[in-house]
Amino acid sequence: MTEPGAIPGGFLEDAEAESGQQLTTLEGWREFVAAEPPPPTPLPLHEYADLSPVEQEVADEERLDHHARLLVVATSTVRHTVTSGRRLVLLNRHAISARRGLIVSGPAGTGKTIAITQLGRTHELLDRARHPHRSERIPVLYITVPPAATARMIAAEFGRFLGLPVSRRLNITDIIEAVAGVCTDTRTGLVIVDELHNISLTNRHGAEVADTLKYFSERIPATFVYAGIDIERSGLLTGTRGAQIASRFTLIPTHRFPYGAEWKGLVAALEQTLLLRDHKQGTLVALDRYLHERTGGMIGTLSHQIRGAAIDAILSGTEKITKPALQAIPLDFTSESRSPAKEAGARR
Ligand SMILES: Nc1ncnc2c1ncn2[C@@H]1O[C@H](COP(=O)(O)OP(=O)(O)OP(=O)(O)O)[C@@H](O)[C@H]1O
Ligand SMILES: [Mg+2]
Repeated sequence: MTEPGAIPGGFLEDAEAESGQQLTTLEGWREFVAAEPPPPTPLPLHEYADLSPVEQEVADEERLDHHARLLVVATSTVRHTVTSGRRLVLLNRHAISARRGLIVSGPAGTGKTIAITQLGRTHELLDRARHPHRSERIPVLYITVPPAATARMIAAEFGRFLGLPVSRRLNITDIIEAVAGVCTDTRTGLVIVDELHNISLTNRHGAEVADTLKYFSERIPATFVYAGIDIERSGLLTGTRGAQIASRFTLIPTHRFPYGAEWKGLVAALEQTLLLRDHKQGTLVALDRYLHERTGGMIGTLSHQIRGAAIDAILSGTEKITKPALQAIPLDFTSESRSPAKEAGARR
């Protein structure tokens, strides 16, 4: 939070503090669930013009922060993940075994993490609404699979989220028992495991990690949600080990957006979040085809382009986004390497 009388530029410190926000700890997760400040109301132009330059900078700070913050759009991936996840939580409530789960899988940067964390947030907010004075409940557990993970590392990730001391003396069974005990006591209903592609079944550790996750899913009476890059092609769903998961999990594939109605809606939704004084609503919608070509239909690239251009517009005082302003925002490496200009260049 910005302290009263904070120096201009304080939003940068806030942004840094926020980037340190870790969803993989209970504290960070709870902050994420709670955070959603209302958008700031910009001062009318005449009042803004009367401010000193320093005061203007302070007033701009809130708007800069607003555009730096990611506003989640209810895309079909988000909606589908939230609805399917909630349905499974309800169906699993009375299951004693063979609980069903969800896998969100697709290429990098297609909104998997956003979708599963929105599901987690929805579940936690509903749980809080249902049990208002029960702060000891931990309805959602969120972990990521570390690269080159061993089974013990995975168990330790569960422990770390819950804030359990995971000392070296404890063996993996001790950790699993402690985690399962806490999850049962605190009524954990949803366990989200992200970055599942970090499990490689080509080595022994990978197979052990997969088995450990399966054991956790047997010990914790919760719905499990997995997400990762191209899981269906990773071997995690084949063989005897994978067949069991494949038969119990619903797959939600994620993609780049094709050019069409949903893309247009996405551009419109992002444009509506802009708080720029001279921006004419509809300018970006009119550029939707150009934006699709430039970003290759990648939602993350689109959001970065628009928010980057909005921040430039405030800092430079132009207060609007135009095509040249969008062109000034560098693309990420993936989009840069596949941009039409580059592809044409490569053909030459
Ligand atoms: N529903 C959404 N609303 C707004 N922006 C979104 C949404 N979904 C994704 N994005 C944007 O796309 C970016 C990438 O999304 P996300 O991190 O969820 O992808 P991912 O599929 O988990 O990627 P990776 O495979 O690299 O983990 C986000 O940082 C955000 O800018
Ligand atoms: Mg992700």
